[in-house]
Amino acid sequence: MNSLAAFPASLRCLAILAVLVGMTGCGRTPPAYFRLNMVEATKQRLTSDQERQVSTILLAMFGTPDEPVALPETGLDLAKLKLAAGPVRSDIAGRKNGLYREHCGHCHGITGDAMGPTAAFLNPYPRDYRPGVFKFKSTERSDKPTHDDLVRILHNGIPGTSMPSFALLSDVQIDALVEYVKYLSIRGETELALMRAYFELDDDAEGKLPETQEFLVAETLVPVAEKWQAAADARIAVPEMPAGLDLAVSIAKGKELFYGDKANCVKCHGPTGLGDGQANDYDDWNKAIVEIGKEVQSGLAKAGETSTSGMSADEVAEHRAQVAWLDRFGQVLTGDALRPRTIPPRNLRHGIYRGGRRPLDLYYRIHAGINGAPMPAAKGTVPPEDIWHIVNYVLSLPYEFDGELGADRTLVAQGR
Ligand code: HEC
Ligand code: HEC
Repeated sequence: MNSLAAFPASLRCLAILAVLVGMTGCGRTPPAYFRLNMVEATKQRLTSDQERQVSTILLAMFGTPDEPVALPETGLDLAKLKLAAGPVRSDIAGRKNGLYREHCGHCHGITGDAMGPTAAFLNPYPRDYRPGVFKFKSTERSDKPTHDDLVRILHNGIPGTSMPSFALLSDVQIDALVEYVKYLSIRGETELALMRAYFELDDDAEGKLPETQEFLVAETLVPVAEKWQAAADARIAVPEMPAGLDLAVSIAKGKELFYGDKANCVKCHGPTGLGDGQANDYDDWNKAIVEIGKEVQSGLAKAGETSTSGMSADEVAEHRAQVAWLDRFGQVLTGDALRPRTIPPRNLRHGIYRGGRRPLDLYYRIHAGINGAPMPAAKGTVPPEDIWHIVNYVLSLPYEFDGELGADRTLVAQGR
């Protein structure tokens, strides 16, 4: 400021303007790029050459955030991807492009790594698509969501979280965004598969992945893409809700199951359903970071206590490399991961259901559990028809229900 003070006021303004223009840059903003999954790269102890190889392969297979590529094996529709990808703009016909960056990127990140600028302030965090795990869907626990499941999520948003509804977008736009989520997810899972493949290389590979069609497409991409293509056939078979069901009887049965040894919902959701049972658990995304954090901390503590005197030169070198790796991992966690957050079991008295409030949605949730979260599947422990009783009990929980129904006490849960 001192040097600026020497200028007359008008010139000073110009000087400040020049500095501001310099900072924002008169030219175009640099093109967006996909970030490498540094947590996984560090975990797998990839060298910088190996990191570069992964980036190069991914570039060839998936393109860039502005110019996506979709190999036929992905089953993705490039025209849809192009509508969602790229910077926010309109074409000659006034058709909007760059939908993902306009509507999703600030939370889910350009790469779909859930590291957008808004993400750190949210609880729960936005979904990181890269592990390919989704929570609210009509398929069995470990299966991918169907296209329609994702359309539904975009229509309704996720109640009780910051994930908004995009019901105001056109069907074509929502369809394009869903395709783009799949693209980011397939890309992310392919990246993980590539990074993990170094571990299994033979010595004569000299630390390089084979860049053959066979390895990259048939062995790496296809198994990821096939799971998405199989989703439509992985829908949960839901039995009809038993006809002529007496709701009060059903709720009583559901209650018994809820507190019983088999379903044992009470263990986590608590004796009053307030979600105050087993707490301090993490979902898979956060758990991974917690575990790495612990490994780094205990590793560094151990290294601090270890004396190198009496070690051979090789052992000292190995020890140093280990400490350097732990240090680096600590830095990666600070820059490339968010502070882990717990996922409390849902307070079932609120009547807010993230995966949707239709009885069918709750059937899916209870049958299959919530993938990536501690909520287990009742499948296998509770007969399929009986799950409807639990659904009815859960739907009755937000209301003061004392088990006595009369003509004057219509059950509000009915027909919800
Ligand atoms: C304000 C932040 C925010 C914005 C903007 C946002 N999301 Fe989300 N999204 C979230 C949060 C938070 C979750 C995780 C909720 C949870 O785990 O319960 C989520 C979860 C998801 C999921 C995972 C659903 C599942 O079943 O696991 C998908 C898919 C998704 N968002 C897609 C999108 C798309 C596409 C857009 C843009 C059209 C978008 N989101 C915009 C915050 C956001
Ligand atoms: C091991 C702990 C655990 C057990 C046992 C458990 N849950 Fe959950 N439940 C959770 C957690 C954690 C969540 C929140 C998951 C999330 O949002 O990612 C949850 C969420 C839910 C939801 C909310 C679904 C939504 O769309 O928001 C319902 C309903 C539910 N559980 C019902 C049940 C029922 C019924 C049982 C017994 C059959 C049960 N839970 C057993 C931990 C558990």
